[in-house]
Amino acid sequence: MKSLKFIFISLSLLISSCDSSKPSLTNISKTSENLFFKNSLSIPPILEDKDESDTKDEFNLSIQKGKVKFFNSLETNTYGYNGNFLGPVIRVKSGNEVKINVKNNLDEDSTVHWHGLEVPSEMDGGPNHSIKSNATWSPSFKISQQAGTYWFHPHTFEKTGEQVYKGLAGLFIVDDKNSESLDIPKNYGVNDIPLILQDRRFNKDGSFDYKSQMIDNDGMLGDKFLVNGSINPYFEVKENRIRFRVLNGSNARIYKIALSDNSEFYQIASDGGLLEKPIPLKSLMLASGERAEIVVDFSKYKDKEEVILKSLAYENKEKTITSESIEGRIENGKDLDLMKFIVKKENTDLKSNTFSLPNDLTKIERLQEKDSSKVRKFELNDMAMNMGNMSNTPMNMSGSHSMHTMSTNNMYNGMFRINNKVFDLSRVDESVKLNDIEVWEITNKSQMGMPHPFHVHGVQFQILARNSKEPNLNEKAWKDTVLVQPDETVKIIAKFKNKGMFMYHCHTLEHEDLGMMGVFEVL
Ligand code: C2O
Ligand code: CU
Ligand code: CU
Repeated sequence: MKSLKFIFISLSLLISSCDSSKPSLTNISKTSENLFFKNSLSIPPILEDKDESDTKDEFNLSIQKGKVKFFNSLETNTYGYNGNFLGPVIRVKSGNEVKINVKNNLDEDSTVHWHGLEVPSEMDGGPNHSIKSNATWSPSFKISQQAGTYWFHPHTFEKTGEQVYKGLAGLFIVDDKNSESLDIPKNYGVNDIPLILQDRRFNKDGSFDYKSQMIDNDGMLGDKFLVNGSINPYFEVKENRIRFRVLNGSNARIYKIALSDNSEFYQIASDGGLLEKPIPLKSLMLASGERAEIVVDFSKYKDKEEVILKSLAYENKEKTITSESIEGRIENGKDLDLMKFIVKKENTDLKSNTFSLPNDLTKIERLQEKDSSKVRKFELNDMAMNMGNMSNTPMNMSGSHSMHTMSTNNMYNGMFRINNKVFDLSRVDESVKLNDIEVWEITNKSQMGMPHPFHVHGVQFQILARNSKEPNLNEKAWKDTVLVQPDETVKIIAKFKNKGMFMYHCHTLEHEDLGMMGVFEVL
């Protein structure tokens, strides 16, 4: 397989080398200023609710172009929701009726998908809900799920990766009676802090470098680490207990979150809301699309003490060839510094060293395998360049494209598949009966040694097993995205309560855009 991939890459390099629109290969990393911990963490604002009623909310979102100075002297062209980069937080109460008016002010189509929300299929914002340039889309839905940290981002056909990379992503926070009554930090911006983790690669002129290298089709990785849109920021800690709502909003990076002094922290929530109990952890893997709410105990630190939020090194089995030589591309699995916490005890009344969390956070009703009506199997495939399936893999995809319009994307089409099929919006891959409980068995058959985070729209699921073993305690929660390692089989269970067409896909956005996505309908 290795040699086949090598041949493939050489061929595609030949073809792409005549494309003069490629930005210079020089990356900013060598010339850039030292930005480590120079920016203070920005806190995304909570979006204003235009509806006066307590049980209804109305929001206005504008998808727009922007400019950001990530570096002192350079400007980057970006996209954002209601601003230059990323978006405001949409915050609602469970049970409320929500309407969002989304105006697309870009020159290209986009969509807005409410990742993790169980909404009717017409409101889901998948690739079938394209919003044309200058058009407005106004989905409305009832929030039927528990408190949690969800998010929204584009799902534009073949463009999700690029549009998210330019800056389109925002948090969607749901509160409920339980989350409001618990003794956990909930003062937004003070002790309840969102952390959107992303990596980016910049060209020398400050512009984003998106997929200038063939290998980026395997997943776009950069060498600059952004939290809430600034490079390696710092945050001043003024309370003993801080809750962080961590979203991995990166295209392809998987983080192994930890504190630099190896201290324990507590995970209190996963993708779909609170865990039953706080789970003490020293590190936490978070793949693209996943969220975790954690509480850090800062009571033991002294005034002015500093702690770094890191991503620890982990084993990466990827069989990549050119990885070492790509400037500005830090492969997955490397030790990284993300941001810094600076403890401020002076002039705060937090000199007491107290820390506590409730023992019980919520009750999660476990879905039972015996109640399921079906076991459905999914295979995540990458590569497999053999003659047998050449007919639906890249080499033969050229039918509809002439040689000179063939882009990097076309070349890679067919590299990433589910059940050996490339995404086709007009094909329904799976049909599920409304209100059925089903077990889905997802097997990562990667030939390139790649992990694939599997995401399902329209439902929250539970993990039954990883390679027939019980999942870890912090995965015994509602989830919508699950990391599936090479050769691993993850068994999930869900109840399908919304009718219509939905997507399931790999949340490595380049894989999704290249076809690692399928359509299911609930009838
Ligand atoms: Cu967060 Cu279908 O995506
Ligand atoms: Cu989603
Ligand atoms: Cu993938």
